[in-house]
Amino acid sequence: MEQEAQVWLNGRFVRSADAKVSILTHSLQYGSGIFEGIRAYRTQKGPAVFRLPEHARRLVNTARIVGMPLQQTQKEIEAAVIATVKKNKLEECYIRPFAFYDDSRIGLDPTGKKVSLAIMAVAFGSYFQKKDVGIKCVVSSWCRMNSQILPPQAKYSGNYANSILASVEAKGRGADEAILLSTSGHVAEGPGENIFLVDDGKLVTPSKDSDILIGITRDSIIKVAESTGLEVEERRVHREELYTADELFFTGTAAELTPITAVDSRKIGSGRIGPITKMLSEKFSKIVQGGNDEYLQWLTMVNV
Ligand SMILES: Cc1ncc(COP(=O)(O)O)c(C=O)c1O
Repeated sequence: MEQEAQVWLNGRFVRSADAKVSILTHSLQYGSGIFEGIRAYRTQKGPAVFRLPEHARRLVNTARIVGMPLQQTQKEIEAAVIATVKKNKLEECYIRPFAFYDDSRIGLDPTGKKVSLAIMAVAFGSYFQKKDVGIKCVVSSWCRMNSQILPPQAKYSGNYANSILASVEAKGRGADEAILLSTSGHVAEGPGENIFLVDDGKLVTPSKDSDILIGITRDSIIKVAESTGLEVEERRVHREELYTADELFFTGTAAELTPITAVDSRKIGSGRIGPITKMLSEKFSKIVQGGNDEYLQWLTMVNV
C-alpha cells in the first residue's frame, strides 16, 4: 500500500488529510502567502535536493520583502525540507514550502497574525508535456508587474494572479505558455519561468532589472553555459528578438529547461530544438542527477 503523504507543519509531521486550514485563512483569501518550489532528483547515492540553500535563502528573502515574520531560519528550513523528503520516502519529487497567515479573522492587515510554515513533497514529472519536443508560446497582453506594483523578485502568492491571467490567456489562444513583457515593453519572463535566447552563438537573458524573478535555474544555466565557453549576456531584451532568435528556451525548477519552438505563430530558428538548447539541457540533467563532479556542491544528499 502506498504511504499517505506527510506534511511538515510548524515543526511536526501530519498526515496530508489532517493538514487543514479554515476557508477564511488570510493567505487563501488575499494571496498573502509566500512559497518556494524545489526539486529533489534521484542520484546514485539516493535523492539529492538541488540548490537547497539558495531556495531556502530566497524564501527568507521573500519574507523580508513582504514583511512577513517567518518563524524559521534558513538553516531550519533546509533541515525541514530534507526531513520532508526523507519522511515521504520519495526518490524524486517537487518540494513546496509555503508560509502563510494562519488566521481566519476578516481584515487585510496581517500584522500580529500567526504565520505557519508547511512543507509538502510530491512526485512530479515534467511541468510541460511537450518538454521533449518544444512548446509554443504567445506574448501576453498582460504585462509583468513591476516593483512599484508588486515585488517580482519575491515568490509572493499574490504575484501569481498576474501569472495565472497570462497562462489562461495563452491557453485560450491555443498556446502552451505565455511570455510576459515588462511595463517598459521589454521581455520579462514566463508565468513561472525565466527565458533565454540564443542569438548568433551567444546566450542572452533578460537582466535582473527586467522585472523578473531571479531564478535559481537561470543562475545555474548561466554558470554552466559560461563554463563551456559560451558568451552570456544579461540585458534588456526587445520583443522582436524573440522572433529573430536562433533558439529559445525557458528555465525554472518546475520547467527545468524547456525548449520554445514557436512564438506568436512564428517558427523559432529551424522550428526544432536547437543544438545549444540540447547541449545545455543534457548538461543540466546530468548535473542534477549527480553525474558531474564539478557541480556536486549544488546537491544536498538526503540520506547522508
Ligand atoms: C515567475 C517565475 N519566474 C521564474 C521562475 C524560475 O525560478 P527558479 O529557477 O528559481 O525555479 C519561477 C519559478 O520559481 C517563477 O515563478
